[in-house]
Amino acid sequence: MGFSEAQEELVLRSWKAMKPDSESIALSFFLRIFEIAPAAKPMFPFLRDAGEDAPLESHPKLKAHAVTVFVMACESATQLRKTGDVKVREATLRRLGATHVRAGVADAHFEVVKTALLDTIEGAVPEMWTPEMKAAWEEAYDQLAAAIKEEMKLAA
Ligand code: HEM
Repeated sequence: MGFSEAQEELVLRSWKAMKPDSESIALSFFLRIFEIAPAAKPMFPFLRDAGEDAPLESHPKLKAHAVTVFVMACESATQLRKTGDVKVREATLRRLGATHVRAGVADAHFEVVKTALLDTIEGAVPEMWTPEMKAAWEEAYDQLAAAIKEEMKLAA
């Protein structure tokens, strides 16, 4: 089934509402990831180097990763609606494949990140949240994750 204009609208509308507060939302997104999967923490080199107890809030790279996942999922929604497919620039996708293989990211981590993403959006815009909005974000994320995972296989 294709991605509809209504689905794209749901993703973009909620992103627009979250955008002014994207830094702190991105931070809650990551706190949620580590709540679900504490074992994912040492994957991030800058967290490993900082030591177990360093406050997560102080890691600009972590926030940057969180915002990137949001932004790329939004772009993915737009592309899915337009072309039915997710296009990340080839060079970018190749780099993403290599980075995530090197970091030891596995399929299960993509599931954790998806759950954390959906929980975070629900918490950030509870008044907008509907099963349809959830499904639209899920689809946009799944397609993006599939493109990265495909590239990871080639890089492994
Ligand atoms: C790095 C995007 C999922 C862990 C990166 C980078 C981007 C990115 C853009 C910067 C480096 C580069 O461009 O190569 C995404 C997107 C995801 C996703 C769009 C989902 C659709 C995940 C998952 C994990 C993860 C599931 C594991 C929990 C990491 C780590 C780095 C990284 C450890 C390296 C950080 C560093 O060394 O600075 N990701 N990522 N990512 N990502 Fe992801």
